[in-house]
Amino acid sequence: MNKNLTCLAVAILCAVACKTPEKTVLPVYLDPEKPLEERVEDALSRMTLEEKVAVTHAQSKFSSAGVPRLGLPELWHTDGPHGVRPEVLWDEWDQAGWTNDSCTAFPSLVNLAATWDRDLSRLYGDCIGEEARYREKDILLGPGVNMGRTPLNGRTFEYMGEDPYLAGALVVPYVQGVQSNGVAACVKHFAVNNQETRRTATNSVVDDRTLYEIYLPAFKAAVQEGGAWAVMGSYNLYNGHFNCHNDRLLNGILKGEWGFDGVVVSDWGGCRDDDEAVTGGLDIEMGTWTNGLSGSASDSYGNYHLANPYLERLRDGRATEEVLNDKVRRVLRTIFRTGMSPEPHYGRFTSPEHFAASRRIAADGIVLLKNDGVLPLQVPEGGKLLVVGENAYKMMVVGGGSSNLKTKYEVIPLEALREAFAGKAEVVWERGYVGDVTTDYNKVVTGQDLSENRSAERLVADAVQAAEDADCIVFIGGLNKSDRQDNEGTDREDIVLPYGQDGLIEALAATGKKLVVVNISGSPCAMPWAEEVNAIVQGWYGGSESGHALADVLTGAVNPSGKLPFTMPLALSDGPLKTERQYPGIREEGETWWQEYYDEGVFIGYRWYDTRNIPVQYPFGYGLSYTTFELSNARVAKTSLAPGASQTVTVTVKNTGSAAGAEVVQLYVADTEASVPRPSKELKGFEKVYLQPGESRRITFTLTPQDLSFFDAGSHRWVAEPGEFHALVGTSSADIAADLPFTLK
Ligand code: BGC
Repeated sequence: MNKNLTCLAVAILCAVACKTPEKTVLPVYLDPEKPLEERVEDALSRMTLEEKVAVTHAQSKFSSAGVPRLGLPELWHTDGPHGVRPEVLWDEWDQAGWTNDSCTAFPSLVNLAATWDRDLSRLYGDCIGEEARYREKDILLGPGVNMGRTPLNGRTFEYMGEDPYLAGALVVPYVQGVQSNGVAACVKHFAVNNQETRRTATNSVVDDRTLYEIYLPAFKAAVQEGGAWAVMGSYNLYNGHFNCHNDRLLNGILKGEWGFDGVVVSDWGGCRDDDEAVTGGLDIEMGTWTNGLSGSASDSYGNYHLANPYLERLRDGRATEEVLNDKVRRVLRTIFRTGMSPEPHYGRFTSPEHFAASRRIAADGIVLLKNDGVLPLQVPEGGKLLVVGENAYKMMVVGGGSSNLKTKYEVIPLEALREAFAGKAEVVWERGYVGDVTTDYNKVVTGQDLSENRSAERLVADAVQAAEDADCIVFIGGLNKSDRQDNEGTDREDIVLPYGQDGLIEALAATGKKLVVVNISGSPCAMPWAEEVNAIVQGWYGGSESGHALADVLTGAVNPSGKLPFTMPLALSDGPLKTERQYPGIREEGETWWQEYYDEGVFIGYRWYDTRNIPVQYPFGYGLSYTTFELSNARVAKTSLAPGASQTVTVTVKNTGSAAGAEVVQLYVADTEASVPRPSKELKGFEKVYLQPGESRRITFTLTPQDLSFFDAGSHRWVAEPGEFHALVGTSSADIAADLPFTLK
């Protein structure tokens, strides 16, 4: 029976049973008017030991049990961060074959991060939360906020870039939007889980300062400011313990220091130990196979660490009911916040508003990296636009791992460009290279035919020949969510573009035709041909409306306003990870797990490049527009700041061009007198401002003492040391318009 109907039926039965002549008395746990904690305690007091254990582990691939006897519904979990995953069978990864589970695919989270727009993040959360609620899901397995430590991480596209402040600022409205629908956001993957290579066998060795300054803040913001109801542990180890039951991370930091009262869910198969599963802070064990990641007996959820083995421990006294009750309270809270929320939520699925939101977010995150005036595209009436590259054609919503989606439709760039130029110019496509010909993923089928008989040389020659009478060439390539090209489970091998694309771009540039390069990827790519092309656009996996979003930007229907959420380096070797012990980790003779040493400390992304003055292709926070902006009159309120006081920074931003557009004004802080090595600048504020031509706005930022602090591992607290600081106001980490010194007394 539908779980909501079950609840209703039980509620009515109880109501009838308890009816007095005066009024109907509901049991406390069923009374939506009673405070959450009273409902939780009441429900807990009615549960048997077996019922309590049953709610702490999976009962199917994507659900965990409720308490049917009491009318407490199951919890239904779903991937993922970019849309609601298609239904799989109860105990199989195979598709259930539903015909009504094709969702709206939203842009990948890195695309959302590139919007630098808190309102769009809220819109994203609202929409995906509505889709999840409509599909009767209680826990949405996302968003992901692991940091971009290496551009090689296969899941970079699922995360929000390389900066903890940016990711923290954007995760909060996303979580709030999702949860406003009575769906728990499950923030993942907690924590220091920054590579896919040997992700289930690698111990992250990271010092406390680095942990607290770089890898925890976005999670903390999600929990404390966003009020996240669920957190997912990660596959890797930290401190020698698996993170799905890592006492320090989960009991010490998440539940202890941050006061998280929600539920900790394991990553699928990430629970690895009977003892620690009980004591390490895990509340619900979800899984891939029988027992952690191994074994494949069917319907064997009883074998899970938190199932029969747990029950045995409780019965013979090796585990206490007190610890179990804490887990159950958290599960109950989640049930009362979601499926049994006092407010009714119905959700919406694949509504026109969702597709419109998806298109807007996708477009607003597209980053214009270079433009000599060729964009927006101007093709003469009756002219020819040559589109080259597999990514103009290949559908990208499928693939990538657990964020794989089945969408109602997906607009490819070629189709959108043809639509945009219909009746005005001819749009011709040449493939140029063969990347990934797969068209189905986990039995989600795109229906495209990507087979190709031509040789690599022929493909390049055909593209070059087609350019002969073209007015302009738009190359659309990059990565594609296949193995080692932005995909869960595998890391990339380099940041060089695969499939000979560099050579193809150079051949197209050599034709002398105007050439726009669109790089579609979820992670940084090298662009050795940057000088030879007229324009460069960084696109992302944009979801159902990705083609429209890209065409909107290329044609000027949307003025680009995205900014890079990570640094685009010139070469992988320029980055902070220099040794094998840093990445992908080393294993000593006789050891079971690989050790990965975070020797670079807090110096990742622009914190590394800027501090060391290492040139990059495009800096963090960078992105152009079809209009121009000017920052002026930047001021700090106090040149001498009292300890514990906040600083106010103001600046005027003006649209000095002739098109409406948006600029992201960024505030960085530099601590030039410190007893520990600090990055040359750190992002501590940003504001995206939409302005008409000639319009200006004064922006105010507040810097709190926390914004000036570093984490002092010895005293385990944040410390703002007296001395000189600089407030740096600019439009990227490298384009600083004003340097405002002040002294902290
Ligand atoms: C991934 C998670 C995902 C889960 C369920 C795991 O392999 O790491 O991100 O939510 O599977 O599909």
